Amino acid sequence: MKIHTYERLWLIGSMVLIVGFIVTITYGTVGLGITMIGDEEDALSPDDINDDERFAEPGVEQVGEDEFEAHVVAMTFIFQPDPIEIPANNEVTFYVTSRDVIHSFTVVGTNTNTMVIPGEVSTMTVEFDEPGEYGVVCNEYCGSGHHDMEGELIVHP
Ligand code: CUA
Repeated sequence: MKIHTYERLWLIGSMVLIVGFIVTITYGTVGLGITMIGDEEDALSPDDINDDERFAEPGVEQVGEDEFEAHVVAMTFIFQPDPIEIPANNEVTFYVTSRDVIHSFTVVGTNTNTMVIPGEVSTMTVEFDEPGEYGVVCNEYCGSGHHDMEGELIVHP
């Protein structure tokens, strides 16, 4: 039986796709695929937050000439500190962790947005050019007060 050339190409193409999917699923499952959070990030048990000097009193500190670090704790249904105050035109690295369930740390109207997972520290370096007051909201459903979970980010000129 003769198989038409195009038909053969499609057959081969679909085999490659199927094998590709299986490989993706297999390796994804055993952890060699996409990881949402780098393994090199710090782990931090929610029970240890009060003993951790970075998060026991969350806040913003200057660590270099134009560099700041902001430690933020998310929990049902607030962000700490609130407001978060940072200077414009400086590099700010946010370290965000959760005290309880999964939240997000989302600065409205910007691309500053990360999932916040208990036991993990999400890290993000940003620079705000526009001074002003920004809303901080949670985009991950976290319970009855999810829609009220909000904070404020003040960017000083
Ligand atoms: Cu926190 Cu939704």
